[in-house]
Amino acid sequence: MEAEHDVVEAELTLHAAGDAAGTPSYDQLAAMTAPRLVTELPGPRARAVIEADARVTSPSLPRAYPFVPARGAGTMVEDVDGNVFLDLNAAIAVCSTGHAHPKVVEAIREQAGKLLHYSASDFYLPIYGETCAALDRIAPMRADARSFLTNSGTEAVEAAIKLARHHTGRQYVIAFLGAFHGRSYGSMTLTASSAKYHEGFGPLLPGVLHAPYGADDPDRYIERVIFKRLVKPNEIAAIVVEPIQGEGGYVVPPDGWLAGLRELCDRHGILLVADEVQSGMGRTGRMWAVEHWGVEPDIVLSGKGIASGMPLGAMTARADLMTWGAGAHGSTYGGNPVACAAALATIDLIRGGLADNAAEVGGFLLAGLRELQRRQPLVRDVRGLGLMIGVEFESGEVADAVEHACFRRGALVLRAGDATIRMSPPMVIDREQAATGLSIFEEACAEVAAAGRAGA
Ligand SMILES: Cc1ncc(COP(=O)(O)O)c(C=O)c1O
Repeated sequence: MEAEHDVVEAELTLHAAGDAAGTPSYDQLAAMTAPRLVTELPGPRARAVIEADARVTSPSLPRAYPFVPARGAGTMVEDVDGNVFLDLNAAIAVCSTGHAHPKVVEAIREQAGKLLHYSASDFYLPIYGETCAALDRIAPMRADARSFLTNSGTEAVEAAIKLARHHTGRQYVIAFLGAFHGRSYGSMTLTASSAKYHEGFGPLLPGVLHAPYGADDPDRYIERVIFKRLVKPNEIAAIVVEPIQGEGGYVVPPDGWLAGLRELCDRHGILLVADEVQSGMGRTGRMWAVEHWGVEPDIVLSGKGIASGMPLGAMTARADLMTWGAGAHGSTYGGNPVACAAALATIDLIRGGLADNAAEVGGFLLAGLRELQRRQPLVRDVRGLGLMIGVEFESGEVADAVEHACFRRGALVLRAGDATIRMSPPMVIDREQAATGLSIFEEACAEVAAAGRAGA
């Protein structure tokens, strides 16, 4: 109880201090093109929050560095001490339209004033249907589609596993080494980016097999090993794939690889499930990453950027696959009306120019990082599409050191995979902000390289 009281106290002090300090307006914050650090990091208020948090929250939460956000505008985020950061994370590819986009906030306000909730699983909620219709219209498949709405990415994955098994009557599912699909039992079983996600949790979901991903699969492991030695293809319900691996290190598969999976699925009546929770919603410069390769999945999964930060996910499937009956699947909160309002505004903004901006500024960022790679031997690889960019280093230690050096300079980036730093900024980022991000990243790499030379 005492610890809880401390957290509330810390928050109240913060609000009061923020007002007194005369913090920048939303527009002023959004227009900033560089970080502004006014305290050491973490600052005194951030330290107080972190100490209070450490007493009451689950120690399983994998905090990356001591960043304590208080408010955000566009690509900039202010912490509880008034330090302003350039956010190249977008809260891990979630705040797609930028922090607190006025159109999204307005849609949320309006809906919140009308109806906070009614379960669409049990009754008819107009905005739930509107959101499904919007998703079905943009789905990366020519056939008619239908959607099931969830609260998160992991629930969308669970829905896909259930639908695939239910529709095909088959039990096996294939996923890929390096994949991340979530932390509930089915999605955790599909996940194979790190053994830490499985440690201590077995037995996992039966019937899941893994194959090498992309360039690691030059000799068709699924056919050569799985179909031949383990399970006949007529027992496989689905292949679940991230078109670009996210948490596993922002890995882009070679051209033709996804099309090969599509062809394999067609040949054996297997459903191709594209997990676009991280890569979808315009982030790669197209609405869906699969569009870069002209591949149509049978089921597409979305989450993260779909509602600019409100909790929402979706499983969108070809309409003819939705053969399950009433009661087979549902959710109390999935497709909550406020989250749906945010999603409708988000989809409009993405289609209205933000996906194009992701392609344009993403291209600029990618080119800048490739130039940096030529100058900086610490950088081993630069890859990505649009605003989904990975920079690989020689080791996880180096990647972590660069991540922390960026934080100390006021830029937020995050490790992914074994030794990669991901950049997934809000899709409203402009060139000037991206250029600042590039120079901070270069300085951070130089600092880590110099420390390495001094320590050698
Ligand atoms: C590709 C992918 N699928 C699923 C998930 C799980 O989403 P959530 O954390 O919303 O459950 C994630 C989260 O990082 C993801 O990147």
